[in-house]
Amino acid sequence: MKNKALWPLVVIWGIACLCGSRGCQEQERVALLALNATLDLKYRVDAGESYFNCCSWESVDCNPTTGRVTHLMLSMSRYYHFGFKTWYLNASLLLPFEELKSLDLSYNYLGGWIGPEEPNLLSSRLSKLEVLDLSGNSLDNSILSILGTIPSLRSLFLGGNNLRGNLLVKGGFSNLMELDISDNAIDAATIEGIKNLSHLENLYLDFVHLKHVGTIVRALGALSSLRILSLQYNTIEGTITTQDFHNFSKLEQLILDDSSLNTSRGILSSLGPLTSLRLLSSSRTNLSGNISNHSLCNLVKLEELDLSFNGITSRLPICWRNMSSIRILNLEDNEFADSVVSSPLTNLTSLEFLSISGNHFDIPSSLGPLANHSRLKVPSMTHFNLSYMDISNNNMRGKLTTKFWANVPNPSYLNLSTNRLEGNIPSELGSVKSLDILDLSSNNFSGGLPIQLLDSKLDILSVAYNNLQGEIVLSNHTMNPGLSFLWLEHNLFNGSLSFLSSLFDLEILDVSNNIFIGKLPRLIANMTLLVTLDLSKNQLDGLIPQELCNLDLLEYLDLSDNNLSGPLPSFFYLTVDAPHPSE
Ligand SMILES: *[C@@H]1O[C@H](CO)[C@@H](O)[C@H](O)[C@H]1NC(C)=O
Ligand SMILES: *[C@@H]1O[C@H](CO)[C@@H](O)[C@H](O)[C@H]1NC(C)=O
Ligand SMILES: *[C@@H]1O[C@H](CO)[C@@H](O)[C@H](O)[C@H]1NC(C)=O
Ligand SMILES: *[C@@H]1O[C@H](CO)[C@@H](O)[C@H](O)[C@H]1NC(C)=O
Ligand SMILES: *[C@@H]1O[C@H](CO)[C@@H](O)[C@H](O)[C@H]1NC(C)=O
Ligand SMILES: *[C@@H]1O[C@H](CO)[C@@H](O)[C@H](O)[C@H]1NC(C)=O
Ligand SMILES: *[C@@H]1O[C@H](CO)[C@@H](O)[C@H](O)[C@H]1NC(C)=O
Ligand SMILES: *[C@@H]1O[C@H](CO)[C@@H](O)[C@H](O)[C@H]1NC(C)=O
Ligand SMILES: *[C@@H]1O[C@H](CO)[C@@H](O)[C@H](O)[C@H]1NC(C)=O
Ligand SMILES: *[C@@H]1O[C@H](CO)[C@@H](O)[C@H](O)[C@H]1NC(C)=O
Ligand SMILES: *[C@@H]1O[C@H](CO)[C@@H](O)[C@H](O)[C@H]1NC(C)=O
Ligand SMILES: *[C@@H]1O[C@H](CO)[C@@H](O)[C@H](O)[C@H]1NC(C)=O
Repeated sequence: MKNKALWPLVVIWGIACLCGSRGCQEQERVALLALNATLDLKYRVDAGESYFNCCSWESVDCNPTTGRVTHLMLSMSRYYHFGFKTWYLNASLLLPFEELKSLDLSYNYLGGWIGPEEPNLLSSRLSKLEVLDLSGNSLDNSILSILGTIPSLRSLFLGGNNLRGNLLVKGGFSNLMELDISDNAIDAATIEGIKNLSHLENLYLDFVHLKHVGTIVRALGALSSLRILSLQYNTIEGTITTQDFHNFSKLEQLILDDSSLNTSRGILSSLGPLTSLRLLSSSRTNLSGNISNHSLCNLVKLEELDLSFNGITSRLPICWRNMSSIRILNLEDNEFADSVVSSPLTNLTSLEFLSISGNHFDIPSSLGPLANHSRLKVPSMTHFNLSYMDISNNNMRGKLTTKFWANVPNPSYLNLSTNRLEGNIPSELGSVKSLDILDLSSNNFSGGLPIQLLDSKLDILSVAYNNLQGEIVLSNHTMNPGLSFLWLEHNLFNGSLSFLSSLFDLEILDVSNNIFIGKLPRLIANMTLLVTLDLSKNQLDGLIPQELCNLDLLEYLDLSDNNLSGPLPSFFYLTVDAPHPSE
């Protein structure tokens, strides 16, 4: 009865729609509801959006003028109502969506499509469909004969399915520009087929157990339009030469991360022809030993270079002085041994992100070339844009001087941890307005903690594992509403913890292994955002304030190795004794 009562409304709404009001078309709405029998379509209940206007549903985008559905976002729409069983989509349900540009059906346990009986119906109706995401399903090659008939397809994402061998349909996919077939059973036949996709620009072949990369790269040489090639998580071995890369003069991104690169000459020396390359990412790729002085010399357009987590032992190739476009350089965790002062790093004046953490770089404590080195007062050397700088875990010795800001004026992340810096922490650090995160931990700093650091705009401060000492006394107006993480552990700080009373927004506070004395300040109860509180291994005494129990977000509390006395606040008993229903 109720359904019948709704009919007049539907009809009136349908007429309104035909008369040009905005909102989705009835035939598309009916099709969406039919789809909703197998996929969970979400709609917004907020903002007074009408349920009848399917264009306002969360999973649906429409052209605002025509009211026709243009995008369907149905990723992960099976979990809640339909469980984990493989199912087949009746593709006839897609026929009404003649203006559809993108369809996302990724991660839905989809086993295949049941195409309409009339063979060309789907391609003629879905003639605007350009982007199709079917990643993370259980599709086999049979899907390809259906998809191959949709000539408008530009981007096809099929990663994480059960495809194998040659994937291409004769004459199909002729306009494809982007293809992701990562994590399928790819072999030489697959690559042979891909060679025919002459418009292909972006190709993702991650996690496909590729081995003979030389053969594969040579085969892909036919794809002279290629701009992005991703080969992550593969075992790439065999012979590869400069010649193999000759046809990739348009390649802009080469992504090799987490592949094991065991090639006879070292792949970096073979990349010379890639003169358009802007991004080279080769993190965790078992590169080791020396990289040749000629590596990457031609790649003067590089903007991002990631060679992190390899075993590279050499110095930086001198020719990198010419890489003036580099914005992002990550050399973390290698064995680079070079003096930063004379290294090409000096010349990389476009840097925004630099990590050389975990190497053996010699870095003067004036922060060397990146700072106002006496021989280097050329204004153009200023690293104006450098905002992320991680030089932790290197050979940086001596007293930290503040010449640094002359040439790196706007750092927001600065990590000098795990070096051998000594002397006082310069109080001027507190006045670097751009700084959000400062890590000076694990050095040999001594003296007091400059209170300017607590009275700054810092979000995160660590001075842990140093020899800092003395009381921390804040001026009465000190307030850092932003400071959320504060690590002071493993120092020689003494005096009371009363300075905490003005740091109300802390989420993590670790002052363990110091010589703090006195009572726990009751105002700790006002630090309502605390998640981790470690006051252990100090000389605190008195009662544990009952107010600690008001810290609703607290997950980790360590008060051990102090001289605290009196009863445990009742709240603690509750937690300790509480049964664990999940067990
Ligand atoms: C789709 O069906 C589910 C029930 O399976 C329902 O909760 C949901 O509201 C429906 N979505 C729309 C847009 O009608
Ligand atoms: C698929 O959907 C169409 C349109 O709703 C319907 O006519 C057809 O019977 C369905 N096919 C299957 C196999 O369910
Ligand atoms: C590739 O194209 C050639 C001719 O252009 C054709 O002979 C061959 O069958 C095609 N291969 C595939 C797998 O489509
Ligand atoms: C490079 O491209 C040319 C023409 O585009 C082609 O003849 C040649 O075979 C390609 N080289 C490789 C290594 O594929
Ligand atoms: C590298 O490949 C050679 C043969 O090409 C092989 O002998 C050697 O064991 C491989 N090394 C590693 C680390 O896999
Ligand atoms: C690559 O390096 C990792 C870690 O260093 C190592 O476990 C792995 O065996 C190496 N693989 C090859 C093929 O050398
Ligand atoms: C690296 O190069 C240096 C100088 O060219 C050489 O002395 C050293 O033996 C090389 N190391 C390796 C592991 O090849
Ligand atoms: C690179 O060149 C420098 C001097 O220009 C030299 O000291 C170094 O040994 C060379 N490195 C390699 C790996 O040949
Ligand atoms: C930098 O490039 C110029 C011109 O391309 C070249 O003459 C010079 O030798 C290069 N410098 C280095 C250090 O490779
Ligand atoms: C690199 O910096 C040095 C100074 O260390 C300078 O002499 C040289 O001209 C710079 N090279 C380039 C290519 O900018
Ligand atoms: C803060 O103010 C109190 C009185 O309100 C005063 O006793 C104390 O000395 C002041 N502390 C500092 C560091 O100025
Ligand atoms: C701390 O919290 C208590 C209770 O919520 C409140 O009365 C008191 O004013 C707060 N103290 C400060 C300094 O904000």
